[in-house]
Amino acid sequence: MPRLAVVTSGGDAPGMNAAVRAVVRAAVAHGWEVHGVPHGYTGLIGGELRTLGLRDVGGIIEQGGTVLGTSRCERLKSGEGLELALATLRTLDIAALVVIGGNGSQTGAWELAQHGAPVVGIASTIDNDLYGTDISIGATTATDVALQAINQLRVTASAMTRAFLVEVMGRSCGYLALMAGIAGGAEAIVIPEAELPPEELARELRAGYLRGKSHAIAVVAEGARYPAEALLSYFREHRDRLGFDVRATRLGHVQRGGAPGAFDRMLGTQLGVAAVSAAMEGRFGTLVGLRAGEPTLTTLAQVAGRTRPADRRLLELARMMAM
Ligand code: F6P
Repeated sequence: MPRLAVVTSGGDAPGMNAAVRAVVRAAVAHGWEVHGVPHGYTGLIGGELRTLGLRDVGGIIEQGGTVLGTSRCERLKSGEGLELALATLRTLDIAALVVIGGNGSQTGAWELAQHGAPVVGIASTIDNDLYGTDISIGATTATDVALQAINQLRVTASAMTRAFLVEVMGRSCGYLALMAGIAGGAEAIVIPEAELPPEELARELRAGYLRGKSHAIAVVAEGARYPAEALLSYFREHRDRLGFDVRATRLGHVQRGGAPGAFDRMLGTQLGVAAVSAAMEGRFGTLVGLRAGEPTLTTLAQVAGRTRPADRRLLELARMMAM
């Protein structure tokens, strides 16, 4: 019976479990034996895989995080770590390794593939900055979590006529900020792809008050040149001249812990099944993503070490809606 291993790597993302479940069930349906790798590439290096059957992945589709555990594994980048990971695959006679993760993880997958490992990646990161997919597992749920926070912050912002800076994750990509900002009706959005200096941001927020608004919400990407903390200091320093009170909320890891919504469960399921098909066809060294609504393969060579910026054209739409 051919053996397939599945690993979740890097930052966890809601929907990873749906992908694990789909990989296990699709692989078992095709007569493969499946092994789960604990704690990301660290577990691959350690070689402590465990077999996963149909019942082992029951009741996990609705859970956030990853039942396999994950890690950011610096050791894979060393020659020694890479060699140990490859040795695990050889020793256990693994015919396919499915790597569920984001940029760093798929760059690691490409490294393994270049050394002959039969790897297929699945696009999963709340940052949605992976090349080779329109949307990654976890991004939609993380946006919804941020959105809920924005909704609640607006209540208190309106009551006290305050401005709020809401910092969201995303590393160097503004996708989460853009989506949560537009869907949350923010007065301003600050992303690395289109920087907004503090004085210009203040002008936008003040303009909202002048148009009769009782609140001002700015959604700020953590990767922006002036993240929330820096903006807060500036606004406080110039409080009297700017004429409004400001507070800052950094959402941080809260965004990663949500229970996956329907979209991420579907996406994880679709991509998991597509990854097993790719493995069965021997299409290794590839990433499975969703492009134009269809599971699509992109070579890991194209994906590795590359990021995909947010669509800054959406800022125009955001500005119009903030009127
Ligand atoms: O890549 C996902 C992500 O949540 C980023 O948005 C964030 O910058 C980073 O991971 C945080 O990493 P860690 O969980 O290692 O602190």
